[in-house]
Amino acid sequence: MASLTHRPRRLRRHPASRDMMRETFLSPAHLIYPMFVVEDEARRIPVASMPGVDQVSIDEAVKDAKRAYELGLGGVILFGIPDHKDPAGHDAYDPNGVVQRAIRAIKAEVPELYLIADLCLCEFTDHGHCGIVHPVDTVDNDATLKLLGRIAVTYAQAGIDMVAPSGMMDGMVEAIRHALDSAEHESIPIMAYSVKYASAFYGPFRDAADNAPSFGDRRAYQMDPANRQEALRELELDLEQGADVVMVKPGLPYLDIIRDVRERTHLPVAAYNVSGEYAMIKAAVHNGWLEEERTVLEMLTSFRRAGANMILTYHALDAAQWLRAAGNG
Ligand code: PBG
Repeated sequence: MASLTHRPRRLRRHPASRDMMRETFLSPAHLIYPMFVVEDEARRIPVASMPGVDQVSIDEAVKDAKRAYELGLGGVILFGIPDHKDPAGHDAYDPNGVVQRAIRAIKAEVPELYLIADLCLCEFTDHGHCGIVHPVDTVDNDATLKLLGRIAVTYAQAGIDMVAPSGMMDGMVEAIRHALDSAEHESIPIMAYSVKYASAFYGPFRDAADNAPSFGDRRAYQMDPANRQEALRELELDLEQGADVVMVKPGLPYLDIIRDVRERTHLPVAAYNVSGEYAMIKAAVHNGWLEEERTVLEMLTSFRRAGANMILTYHALDAAQWLRAAGNG
């Protein structure tokens, strides 16, 4: 026998000891489920690159929302896919647009569920960019801010609990805060996609949300994956502008940035486990290369360990079921 002073394995021998030593916890209440809502009724259209995820009509969205509530999720976040798109994304701020109707329908049936709406123009514009197109700058920042404020107010009027601007426009948090406050919706919080990279991992989402840019890419407004200081700069600006929650997106390739953000703010931090991260796991599981439940729970725990309070993830419903079965729900 070697005479070792330190044997970390001593604390790992007994299951109860392992439980007591555990540092990070994951529960359904930390998870937010993204939903893609389309027009019409009784429609569920599978998203080919995201097995298990469907585009859902409003009535089906209500069913998924009920399930999310029953499983004890923190909330759901809505993405709307309108039938009609145009250069200025008019349907985004139509009081009877697909998101506004979905909000009302879900709030009528599942009032206790925490309901968040993604706030961006890319699903509503025919060119797929996140705002009004500009000849030189890709997107006209300041013209787009006005529209974001209008959209936010229509979501608030429909009964949303929180809005989540994802378009990476400069000044978007301040513009939305001002629009909401002016319409007496000062109690609606803003979860800002503060640090959003121009990522290849959004590929499958663009099938799901039908928002791929018809020309160019988003590098004139989303961030370069190589940058860390720039992430902290974006964070600072959103703090100054009054964000209530700050988000880092994508998640898995940016756990270092989640940690950086966690250490620099006292606000809650959200992480987005994006479509490409989901697709990678699903593909490996489909091939029998990874075990789904253990892989997903380990990954989601890593987001929490990195410092995320909440996680937006397509695995939310499955993960909540597994957690509850294991007594963690
Ligand atoms: C749109 C938006 C995107 C995602 C969330 N909001 C895509 C994009 O920027 O192209 C991606 C989410 C995912 O990949 O799961 N503003």
